[in-house]
Order: sequence, then C-alpha cells, then structure tokens
Amino acid sequence: MHKLNPEEIRKDFPIFKQRIQDNRLVYLDNGATTQKPMQVINAINNYNQNSHGNPHRGAHQLSIRATEEYDLAKEKVRKFINARYIEEIIFTRNTTESINLIAYSCGKKLINKGDEIVLAISEHHSNILPWQRLVKENGGILKYIYLNEEGRISPEEIKRKITDRTKIVSIAHMSNVLGTIHPIEEIIDHAHKMGSIVVIDGAQSTPHMKIDIQKLDADLFVFSGHKMLGPMGIGVLYGKKEILEDMPPFLMGGDMIEYVYEQEATFAPLPYKFEAGTQNVEGAVGLGAAIDYLEKIGLDRIENHEKMLTEYALDRMLSLPYVSIQGPKDLEMRGGLISFTIDDIHPHDIATILDSYGVAIRAGHHCAQPLMRYLDVPATSRISFYLYNTKEDVDLFVEGIKNVRKWLGYGS
Ligand SMILES: Cc1ncc(COP(=O)(O)O)c(C=O)c1O
Repeated sequence: MHKLNPEEIRKDFPIFKQRIQDNRLVYLDNGATTQKPMQVINAINNYNQNSHGNPHRGAHQLSIRATEEYDLAKEKVRKFINARYIEEIIFTRNTTESINLIAYSCGKKLINKGDEIVLAISEHHSNILPWQRLVKENGGILKYIYLNEEGRISPEEIKRKITDRTKIVSIAHMSNVLGTIHPIEEIIDHAHKMGSIVVIDGAQSTPHMKIDIQKLDADLFVFSGHKMLGPMGIGVLYGKKEILEDMPPFLMGGDMIEYVYEQEATFAPLPYKFEAGTQNVEGAVGLGAAIDYLEKIGLDRIENHEKMLTEYALDRMLSLPYVSIQGPKDLEMRGGLISFTIDDIHPHDIATILDSYGVAIRAGHHCAQPLMRYLDVPATSRISFYLYNTKEDVDLFVEGIKNVRKWLGYGS
C-alpha cells in the first residue's frame, strides 16, 4: 500500500488556500467537522444547477432526476458500509437524529419497567439524552460501562454490565474525547448472546476506517456526513432489515405513508417509512461525492496516515513535561484524535491562543460531561486529524503549545 500525499490532497480543498491571521491554516478540529474538497462542492452545485426538484413526488424531469440522484447517493452509502440491502439505509439529519429515531421508535417498543439499557461512560450527549428520556417515560434503567485507567473497556466490565436484563446496548465505536476504539466486536457478540440489540455510534469511526457492517453484525449503526467531507444536515441510520421493519415510524407526514384515511394511516415500506417530509437531496448528493472521494483515496491509506500522524504527535507531545494525554497510548487502541491538558493552563486559553497562530483545535467538555466528571477534569483540549493533515501541522501545533506557555509567562 503506498502512502497518501496530504500536500496533493490539500490542493482539492479550497479552504486551505486561505491564510488565518497570516498563518497557514492548521485545521485540527476534524472530530467536530471536516472540510470539503472541490469534488463535493461541485457535486452539490451541479445538482442545484441541473437536477433540483422534489424527489419521489413528480412525473416531471427534474423530480425524476432528483429522485435518481438521491437513490444513487443511498446506494453509495450502502456499498460504503457493505450493507446487504438499500432498504437498510435511512437518511437523517445527523448522528443525533439517528439515535433519537432509534430511541423513540425501537426503544419505546422494547423498553419496559426494569429493562436495562447499557451505554459507556464515554458517550457523547447525543447517545445519552435520548435514552434518558426513554427510561423516564418507559421505566427502564440506564447502566454505564466504565473505563479503566487507560480509557479502555475491559472484557470483565462488558460481562458485568451486559446481562440477560439488557435489552439495548448503545455505544460509540470510537470515543470523541479519548480517541479509544472500543472493542465493539466483543460487545456485539456478548450482547447478542444475552439477547440484546446493539446500536453503534459510528460518528467518529466511519470517516476514518473501513466499516463492514455485515462483518460487524451491529443491529443499528449511525453516522454523520459532515464528519467525512460531506455537508452538514445529512446523516445515516443503518439498521438490519428485520429490525427496521419491526420499528414504528418516528416522524409522521408526507412521503412516509401508503394510504391515509380520516382517522388512521398505513405506512410506506422501508426506507421511506422513516423519511417523512422533503429530504435533503443536495446533502445526500454531497455525501455521495464525499464517499467517492474517500474511496478513491482508500480508507486503509487514510487510517494508516492518521496513525502515523498520531504516533508522531504523541511522541512530540509526551516529550513536553507539562503536557498530559488522556486515553490509551497504545496506537492499536486509538484513532487519530488526542485529548490533552497542560499544567496550570485552561483548555479554552490554549485553544484561543493557538487560534492566533492559525491552529484550530477544540476545547471544552466535548459534549461528554459524564466522562469529564468520571475523569475528574473540567475540560480538555483536543486535536483530531484527517487525510489532509501533515507532519508540518503537528510541528506548528507543538510550536504553538510552547508559545501558549510563553504568552502566559511560563517560559519555554
Ligand atoms: C461520538 C459522537 N457521537 C455523536 C455525535 C453527534 O454528531 P452530530 O452533531 O453530527 O449529530 C458526535 C459529534 O461530535 C460524536 O463525536
């Protein structure tokens, strides 16, 4: 496998042509959202200029073209994650909406008083709040898998928490705070033995590694387009056909029906049952173009590139005595995202000062307050890589950290 060339890749991304406060833009906030190549921007423009219409509704040419584009994008998603059937792919707005759909529809059906839902303590709020509402309304119990000192989930903890009382396990593939890649194969296998269904939040993993949903055997799997070079406002819910067929609709309205009478209605087959109202066709087209782009480069090369950058960044950061890293140090257990703290300096100050050097990073609780409390830190700073980041980006970031210390009077 030959290495990818990030400098060549950057040429496809117009945003990198600009300078931020007279510095090269060092974009290290890919865990929050990613930038778009011209191929994605052009695909969206092209759709708007040539094919825009309301899909699935009209007999006219533009409606037909919009329908074709929408369905083609869905087929690209199916192939991208190796789902068996196109009916198993539902477009939503984002990961958050996908999980809300599952909790509302599947959760309301499955969870009754005393039934358990198991999450990890490291979940994003999007994978906590929908379940909190469900157990309040339906009387279930939320249980948490805790992490060990390295930020990992042990096999013992999996067996302790997922039992025959568990009805749903919902867990992130990769933590957006620690970068830990959780042992989801083990979790899925054990949960299935216990009779539970498993939801995987793939928001942080899908953009960065090859997902083979049939091999994984997750029952439901969700992710967002805007974290994988696509536009905002388009997300994916994958579900095994037999599970989706059994789930009642979430949003009610146009396009998701078969027949409507004065007092009741019957619903359209999959996937339309879950796609009420006019859909985000340009978002779907953009996501399809993003998938084409990622597949052309190759997910395995992207993953390798990010591993190289993560190893390099960890080495450089750990050589600074005032920097502490959260999460596993072992590269096999983590993705290209590093949370850190600097002695005596608040993460928000770090992010704000780095911004003046053109270095964009994240600071705060990362929508994971239960994890912050568990780790006993108020906030962390976070860098996260993608295919267009370079070693030079890491060097500029590390120089930036040294400058933050100097700015605040701590010496070098
Ligand atoms: C692990 C994880 N889950 C869910 C989300 C929510 O994604 P979105 O805001 O696209 O719905 C994020 C976003 O950062 C995330 O990192």
